[in-house]
Amino acid sequence: MKIALIGYGKMGHEIEDLIQESGAHEIISISYKNPAEKLDKDGIAKADVVIDFTSPEIIVNTIKKIAGMGKNMVVGTTGWYGELRKVKEIIRKSKTGLIYARNFSIGANIFFQLTNFASALCDKYGYDVAGFEIHHAGKKDSPSGTAKKLASIIMKNFSKKKTLETGRLDRQIREDELHFASLRAGRNPGFHEIIFDSSADEIKLSHSAHGRRGFAVGAIKAAEFIKGKKGIFEFEEIFTKL
Ligand SMILES: NC(=O)c1ccc[n+]([C@@H]2O[C@H](COP(=O)([O-])OP(=O)(O)OC[C@H]3O[C@@H](n4cnc5c(N)ncnc54)[C@H](OP(=O)(O)O)[C@@H]3O)[C@@H](O)[C@H]2O)c1
Repeated sequence: MKIALIGYGKMGHEIEDLIQESGAHEIISISYKNPAEKLDKDGIAKADVVIDFTSPEIIVNTIKKIAGMGKNMVVGTTGWYGELRKVKEIIRKSKTGLIYARNFSIGANIFFQLTNFASALCDKYGYDVAGFEIHHAGKKDSPSGTAKKLASIIMKNFSKKKTLETGRLDRQIREDELHFASLRAGRNPGFHEIIFDSSADEIKLSHSAHGRRGFAVGAIKAAEFIKGKKGIFEFEEIFTKL
């Protein structure tokens, strides 16, 4: 498969390394290698799938351009989901395919399933719940897309949790609030923890990324999936069927 990369930061480099090591696919274009560069439209025109890991500030505009070229896309960039409806419309009108994920790592997706299972049981047996995440100092969005996904899974299962609180609390937390805290420091590629608490005990589920390789593996699997397909897909929903 011929792949065009958009974004040549930490994730762009990780995907390039993975493809070079595996030899399974070919990178035929890299956009934004330098800050002054424009989209490499000539290279993208020759690609089977485009993989984007850039920034929430430019992603919707990029999706519009890539869909306008009739190309299918993997969107790793996070922090744009308020624009999901607009993006769905772009993909529908262009008759292209797009797959996105708040977290492309297979391990994190297993963690989502475990959180779903544990949340349903912990709600049934009267546990309280909270979440916590740590990421490197360079991360531009907070809370992480993964934290928001975990919070939505918990809130779907916990009947009493109605609102998500991600800020600092200068008061007691209300029973209907789910507190999910974020910390930014150093080089941590991503740590998420869910804490279930009762008067009898505490259960902790956590996922700790060793590096960025897991995201790159999932993004390549997503590229293989979206090649030749039409419509918009969320990786978290389809990964068990890959
Ligand atoms: N879904 C997942 O599994 C997953 C996993 C990891 C990361 N992510 C997300 O992927 C995105 C990128 O992560 P990263 O760690 O690779 O970030 P990064 O190291 O900061 O790299 C971002 C890349 O995008 C380029 N870029 C950013 N803003 C741009 C703009 N306005 N115009 C042109 N190019 C621009 C940067 O170019 P310059 O260096 O020239 O600025 C760089 O090449 C983030 O949204 C992050 O949250 C998602």
